[in-house]
Amino acid sequence: MPDAVVIERLNEILAEEVEAAVRYLHLAMSVKGLDRLLVRDTLFEGMQETLQHAQMISERLSHMGANPRIRINIDLESTRISGAEAIQNAVAVEEQALEAYRELLELVENDIALEEFVRDQVSLETQHVADLRLLLED
Ligand SMILES: [Fe+2]
Ligand SMILES: [Fe+2]
Repeated sequence: MPDAVVIERLNEILAEEVEAAVRYLHLAMSVKGLDRLLVRDTLFEGMQETLQHAQMISERLSHMGANPRIRINIDLESTRISGAEAIQNAVAVEEQALEAYRELLELVENDIALEEFVRDQVSLETQHVADLRLLLED
């Protein structure tokens, strides 16, 4: 029987990944002007990737015999931001995901398959943070 704490944490991360996808969509909608040409594809890729992560976690939860739950409360107003601001926001989103998977790793040490999955996620989110940070360099 999987640990209830692990299931609760996976459900929270599932919600965070869905929220991250919504945030990426909001960022993509918010960048105006010529910057759109530079960052739009990156932001939509980020959205698709976070949704894919949400899907993987929901499937994990189902395999574990748990009911996946998405609890989000989000209200994003339309705004106008630069490409750099959008990428800075995206870095924050990815750093939050990385932190969540790092914390989860400490809870899953006795489950090899789950640990492997979480390690892969730590590796992926680390790459996302690094890739986005490169875009912010001068
Ligand atoms: Fe993710
Ligand atoms: Fe990511």
